[in-house]
Amino acid sequence: MAVISDHCPEIEVTLVDIDESKIAAWNDSDLMNLPIYEPGLKEVVKRNRNRNLFFSTNISKAISEAEIIFISVNTPTKVSGLGAGYASDLKWVESSARQVAKYAKGHTIIVEKSTVPVKTAELIKEILMNSENNSDFENKSFSVLSSPEFLAEGTAIIDLENPDRVLIGGEDYRAINILKEIYIKWIPEEKILLTNIWSSELSKLIANAFLAQRLSSINSITALCESTGADIDEVVKAIGHDTRIGKKFLSPSPGFGGSCFKKDILNLVYLCRHYGLDSTANYWEQVLIINHWQKKRISHLVVEKLFGTVTGKKILLLGFAFKANTNDTRESPAIEISKNLIENGAQININDPKVNNKQIEQELSIKEFEENPISHGRWNFEKDIYKSAKNADAIIIITEWQEYRELNWQKLSNLMRKPAWIFDTRKIISKDNLIELGINFWQVGTPDI
Ligand code: UDX
Repeated sequence: MAVISDHCPEIEVTLVDIDESKIAAWNDSDLMNLPIYEPGLKEVVKRNRNRNLFFSTNISKAISEAEIIFISVNTPTKVSGLGAGYASDLKWVESSARQVAKYAKGHTIIVEKSTVPVKTAELIKEILMNSENNSDFENKSFSVLSSPEFLAEGTAIIDLENPDRVLIGGEDYRAINILKEIYIKWIPEEKILLTNIWSSELSKLIANAFLAQRLSSINSITALCESTGADIDEVVKAIGHDTRIGKKFLSPSPGFGGSCFKKDILNLVYLCRHYGLDSTANYWEQVLIINHWQKKRISHLVVEKLFGTVTGKKILLLGFAFKANTNDTRESPAIEISKNLIENGAQININDPKVNNKQIEQELSIKEFEENPISHGRWNFEKDIYKSAKNADAIIIITEWQEYRELNWQKLSNLMRKPAWIFDTRKIISKDNLIELGINFWQVGTPDI
């Protein structure tokens, strides 16, 4: 929305949220504590705020004044009830639609921006047209469009400025053109794809499923490289040069994280099972099974290399965000790897340039460990990497932050207790550098050194 306000000064953009503290943070004069960290976002907000970009908790007023409403709420995986563990929870989409039905005036275009299961637009339409939600039925009308968001975190502004494509799904050509008029202010027309509404909704799930599939494919091969003597970087280079395969999105990792891939694949699997397509469902579910396997494989490997036990050992974990340039920790591989090591009795020091202590505490829901503290290890948040490397038995790199590429590995290895190990799950350190230090070193997809 900030980027739309930047490119369309004639449009007034208002962001509303029921969470007052979030809106207050967006309205904060120095923009020091924005609810999300995203490179370049602060500048865009600063340029447009209180010009044509506004943040408010007055939801009814904003809805009644709006000609176009983007529903951009979260749709997490359901934790209980029908479809638990697979289906998306649409309660926020539903409550947003009910509020729109209640407060809208005249004709309103509703744009689904949230990633939603196929046929959610139908649900929105039903709510909007239901007279119980909509008392002033005769004087209101609605058009529902789907326009899913493809930006990735950490590169959101770049992706929005120069998207590979934007999708508009719908039937009402007048409404489609109004939305197209907004995008066309900065996006070339050939990149604005028009589809029917179900294709648009489904395409978002499929794009994420294909991207995640590439990552599980390459991660599954890391183990084979380690066993055979092949090097994953060389394999990636060789296959990526095939233009049909392409170079992007093939970096090996401790497993993919983030709020989208797992959730959307679960959703796809649920959808396929619903339509009786069990083979298709099982095929896509395997992408998640490999992702889980990669995280488990790495924590097992750490225990194995440290003589089969990490009880009481000091391990420094570098990175808790699910990838670099974000403070988002949702589904981060760091969560499962830390939990496995803590369960094995390790004392872990966690460092991350953008994630705070409280967030880590929530993700590790440490209470479950506290019930039986004797057999479990502990964790601490540590800002000073060199301080926490003192007497450490191992360092594990989880997130590919630039800061970690620039560390003084000579100094770090001198501080560690010998024999010490470095585990590089992102392949960010040059192997030659570490060989010179004479320290034990494991790198994902690399044969033993
Ligand atoms: C993803 C999609 O890319 C985006 O189009 C969609 O709108 C939302 O979901 P996001 O989750 O923000 O975006 O991040 P992305 O860059 O896709 O990374 C997801 C995970 O894959 C991260 O954990 C990342 O570290 C991992 N990854 C990515 C790899 O392991 N290797 C790669 O080569 C690329």
